[in-house]
Amino acid sequence: MGELLRMEHISKRFGTFYANRDISLTVNRGEVLTLLGENGAGKSTLMNVLTGLYQPTEGSIWLNGQKIKIDSPSQAVKLGIGMVHQHFMLVDAMTVFENIILGDKHAKGIFVDKDARRGEIEELSAKYGLEVQLDKPITEISVGEQQRTEILKALYHGAELLILDEPSAALTDIEVEGLFAIILKLIGEGKSVIFISHKMREVLRISDRITVLRLGQVVGTVKRTDTDGIMLAKMMIGHELQPVHYEKKDSSAEPVVAEMKNIDYHKTSKHSGINDVSLKIRKGEIVGIAGVDGNGQTQLAQLITGVIAPEGGEIDLNDHKVGVFDPNGFIHSGVSHVPEDRNHQGLIGNMTISENLVLKNCDTETFSYGKGLLLNKKAIDAYADDIVQKYDVRCTSVFQTVRSLSGGNQQKVLLAREFESDPTLLVVAHPTRGLDIGATRAVHDKIIAARDRGAGILLISADFDEILEMSDRIIVLFEGRVMGEFSGKEPPVNEISLAMTGK
Ligand SMILES: Nc1ncnc2c1ncn2[C@@H]1O[C@H](COP(=O)(O)OP(=O)(O)OP(=O)(O)O)[C@@H](O)[C@H]1O
Ligand SMILES: [Mg+2]
Repeated sequence: MGELLRMEHISKRFGTFYANRDISLTVNRGEVLTLLGENGAGKSTLMNVLTGLYQPTEGSIWLNGQKIKIDSPSQAVKLGIGMVHQHFMLVDAMTVFENIILGDKHAKGIFVDKDARRGEIEELSAKYGLEVQLDKPITEISVGEQQRTEILKALYHGAELLILDEPSAALTDIEVEGLFAIILKLIGEGKSVIFISHKMREVLRISDRITVLRLGQVVGTVKRTDTDGIMLAKMMIGHELQPVHYEKKDSSAEPVVAEMKNIDYHKTSKHSGINDVSLKIRKGEIVGIAGVDGNGQTQLAQLITGVIAPEGGEIDLNDHKVGVFDPNGFIHSGVSHVPEDRNHQGLIGNMTISENLVLKNCDTETFSYGKGLLLNKKAIDAYADDIVQKYDVRCTSVFQTVRSLSGGNQQKVLLAREFESDPTLLVVAHPTRGLDIGATRAVHDKIIAARDRGAGILLISADFDEILEMSDRIIVLFEGRVMGEFSGKEPPVNEISLAMTGK
C-alpha cells in the first residue's frame, strides 16, 4: 500500500549514552510494524522521538515522502501520529470525555461544542468497538478501559499512525482479543500501527513485519511469515534461550509462614472483594494464584502484606495472629511485597536507583551511622553497584533516577530490593509483566532460588503459563472466592481453566 513513514539514521543521546543509534525503519500504510527488543533496547525512546517528546540527536523523519520536523507532541498529533504510552498519560481527576477532548482539534478559544464532540466520539467508539463510559472519572475505570480511552483519544485527534507501546502488558486475555480486533480494523482501513510487546505469541499473530532492536541499534527487519519465535529471540538477545523446567516441591510437612482464615474484604467499588478466603503458605513453597485479573488478586496481595485490613477473619504470620495492619509492621515480620503497580506503590521515580534500593533499610547499621542519623552513602552506593550487576539492571550508573530507566529495568530494581531482604514471606504480583524473555527467565530463576532458600512465596499472575510453570501449589480465585486448590505437579489444566471462570 505504499510507505507512510520513514525514519532515517536516527540517533538519540542522553549525556554520553546512546539510547538509539543510527536507526532506520519504514512503516507502510495498512500494516502493523512491531518493534521487538530487550528491556532498555530503545523502543520507547525511538517512539518518543517520533511523537516529538524528544528531539533526535541525528537523523531525519519522512512522512508521505516529505521530510518533517516534529517539534512537540501537539505537532505530532497534527501530523496524524498518535501514541498510547507504556505508562498511560490520562488525567486522573478528569472524566473519560474530558480526557478525550483535551487539546481538541476543533476548539476555538474557550468555546467547545460539547454535544457535537460527544456525538463524534460515540460514533468512533461504536465504529471501532472501543467501549468506554464517557462520564466516569479515570480513577474509576479498569486498565483496559483506560487504554481504550487512550486509543479513542488518538483516533479522535485524527491519527493515521497509531503507536501502541506495550498495550497488552496489563490486559486480560479477553481484552487482548478486543484490542487485536481494533488493530485489524484500523489496518483494514489503511491506517498504520507500530506495536511494541514482549509477548512473542502476540507478536507472531498481529505483526506484518518485525524490526528487532538490540542495545539501541537495529538488528534486522523480518516479515512475520519468514520467521518464528526462536529466530526472533535469538536476534533479540544475541543467543539462543534453552527451555527450562523447574522442579516442583512438596512442602506439606513444612511449617506455615502465613495463613489467612476466613478473610472478608468488601470496601471496593471496582472489584468483587474477598469472600471468606482461607489459605496457607508454607516455608519453601510457591503458591500460585490463578485467575482472570480483577477477581480479588489485588486485595489478596494487599491484605497479606498489611496494606489494607480485613473486615472479617484472621491473618497469622509465623503462627502469630496479626493485631495491627500496617505495612511497616509486616516488613519487620519478614514480609516482602512486589506490588502490581510499581510506579505508584513500589518505586519513587525521582529518586536514584541507589536510594530506591535501600528505601526500606537505610536506617540499618550497614547503611547508616547512628541508626539512621546519617546515611553511609559509600556503603549504599557500593551495595547498589553490586545489585545492579547481579540483577542486570541496564543503566548508566546507580545515580540515574528510576524514572529515566526503561519500564523493564524499573521492575528489576523493585524485584532486587524485595528479593534481597531475605523475606520469610514473599508476595509477588505480576513479577514479569513488561519484562523481556531473558529478564523473565532471570526473575523466574530468582523466585525459585528464594523458594529454595526457604521463603514462602505467594505468586499472583494473570499469565497462566507463568502460574503453571512456577507453582508448587495452585489456588484459583474467582470473584474473590477460592474456587479450588490443585497440586502444581502435573496440574489439571482444563479443570483449573474452568475454575477460573467460576465453574
Ligand atoms: N531521559 C533519559 N535519560 C537517561 N537515559 C534514558 C532516558 N530515557 C531513556 N534512557 C535510557 O535509554 C535506554 C532505552 O530506554 P527505553 O525506555 O527506550 O527502552 P525500551 O526498549 O522501551 O525498554 P522496555 O522494554 O523496558 O520498555 C535505557 O537504558 C534507558 O535507561
Ligand atoms: Mg519501553
